[in-house]
Amino acid sequence: MASKVNKKPKKSVTKIRGPKVAKQEIFKGLAGVTVDTTSVSKVMPETNSLTYRGYAVQDLAANCKFEEVAYLLWHGELPSRSQLRKFEKVERSRRNISRAHIDVIRQYPKRAHPMDTLRTSVSYLGTTETAWGGEPAERDRERAMNMLAKIPTMIATDYRFRRGLARKAPRADLSMSENFFYMCFGKVPPKEVIRAFDISLILYAEHSFNASTFTARVITSSRSDIYSAVTGGIGSLKGPLHGGANEAVMQNLLEIKTPARAENWLREKQANKQLVMGFGHRVYKQGDSRVPTMRAALEDLAAWKGDTRWLEISDILQNIMISEKGIYPNLDFPAGPAYYLMGFEIDMYTPIFVMSRITGWSAHVLEQNASNSLIRPLSAYDGVRQRRVKPIAKRS
Ligand code: COA
Repeated sequence: MASKVNKKPKKSVTKIRGPKVAKQEIFKGLAGVTVDTTSVSKVMPETNSLTYRGYAVQDLAANCKFEEVAYLLWHGELPSRSQLRKFEKVERSRRNISRAHIDVIRQYPKRAHPMDTLRTSVSYLGTTETAWGGEPAERDRERAMNMLAKIPTMIATDYRFRRGLARKAPRADLSMSENFFYMCFGKVPPKEVIRAFDISLILYAEHSFNASTFTARVITSSRSDIYSAVTGGIGSLKGPLHGGANEAVMQNLLEIKTPARAENWLREKQANKQLVMGFGHRVYKQGDSRVPTMRAALEDLAAWKGDTRWLEISDILQNIMISEKGIYPNLDFPAGPAYYLMGFEIDMYTPIFVMSRITGWSAHVLEQNASNSLIRPLSAYDGVRQRRVKPIAKRS
């Protein structure tokens, strides 16, 4: 089975009529195609590792808070103590959203998915100024900072309004992670929970040319603005093959309910040829480098909560998927149950991913703008031959 997983990217050759191009190779899903260089992060499937600006992600998770990693992604270097203090001061000062924006959030349909409301909120923020791509990088860094500071407020405000609760205004005396819990639940949880949440944000922050980042780069490449790029990124991240998988993982674990039911549940999925969410990756075929760090955070949370059920179910699924299929869990697999143990409703998981990935997206927008070329690939036409239009009176 392992050979299946290791197979080369899907590639086919299509014959195209025309004077210049006789044959065209198709790289379905751009699998295996290198489209540009980047200095933001490096994914190394051969050694199962990932670095942000040269630092191993595990090293960052062990030694930094999320704000330091955000600074690193945007500036290329970790901040000094005084640079971090200044960065945090600015971030904390921009957490409030306008009264008009709060009213917009109040109008969202109560059953709307939080990814849809968040996508609309970021787009709304983009209406407060007319921005264009290719403006000085400093202006886009300012806009990125606005989004970093305000996205948690947008998510938490919507969360509380959907439940008929009054909003909790952001607090400038708390870190990003602490403040997010405060705005959602009205209190700050113990430091074990904050640490696990911070680790998840660090691990989710950046991952080279994944689908949503590539979406953001495609939008930027037409010299469109950073709000449009991030709005598009959110739309892409929502899908269950990408960021939406962290929600799907927890829905599956809840469906399984007990460790005793896990194997049968998986066998049924396999018999029906259904995907098992939280497994597989386009680039990593021997395991996702971020999983052990998130798994350790999940274990800490399970111990803190005294609830190991989700770990036990996860282990059963994971053992069978690896030993029989050679398919490994990805970051969403431990992240889903971790957010559950932290007390978040399932539809909040992918918005939390956005809170973090805004850093990686904006770093890529800056990079794309600095060395832009319109992203416009080719396609191989396989529709009907060219034909003439019959006037409508002659059509049957
Ligand atoms: N469950 C069951 N089988 C899976 C699987 C999963 N989660 N992921 C991959 N496979 C199987 C495929 O069906 C395929 O089998 P086949 O060769 O018999 O057709 C084989 O493994 C190779 O997968 P492929 O579809 O070529 O991988 P990909 O690179 O195109 O897809 C994902 C990568 C992430 C889209 C895919 O693994 C997936 O859908 N995973 C579930 C969603 C998820 O967790 N997404 C988050 C990603 S970080």
